[in-house]
Amino acid sequence: MPSATDRLRQEHQTIKGALEVAERIAAKMNRDEEVSQEEVDKLMEFICLFVEQCHHSKEEEILFPLLEKKGIPADGGPLGVMLMEHDRARGLIEEMSTAAGNGLTPDAAKRWMQAAWNYSDLMHDHFYKEEEMLFKMADRVLSQEEQAAIAGAFKLLEDEKIGEGKHERLRSMMEALNAQNP
Ligand SMILES: [Fe+2]
Repeated sequence: MPSATDRLRQEHQTIKGALEVAERIAAKMNRDEEVSQEEVDKLMEFICLFVEQCHHSKEEEILFPLLEKKGIPADGGPLGVMLMEHDRARGLIEEMSTAAGNGLTPDAAKRWMQAAWNYSDLMHDHFYKEEEMLFKMADRVLSQEEQAAIAGAFKLLEDEKIGEGKHERLRSMMEALNAQNP
């Protein structure tokens, strides 16, 4: 069974696929090409549910508080930086949702495109920091039993936040969307 931190690393790979889709859609907008509202809606659903409701909640509600108890500093330390970046990500998602919410007029598409580029840059940088620093620290301070208990809590969180089976369906949807958009 993969450890809790390995599960988060795997989710990063799926989310990076979503960022690729976002960048491709933004590139089309930049060339003034028509984009599919349905694709944008699916991508936004994935970001709101898979990334925000599940992935970031697993970190904020389960992993980070435990790491703080283990002595990894929050305020001003690595956990504080990660939380600040989650907040910045939420602001950019809000901008994207607002821009896409009333139909993608040329003006709305430009606003969506800019926010999507900023979001993608932020998330790539954020994942790099988590994978290269925070998760490695976590792997040093957490026992195998703790990793297994956290992984179990992650599964319960998914079911509670978005309903049983939805996490897996969102992952498949994103893989299909990415495959359609080579
Ligand atoms: Fe994070």
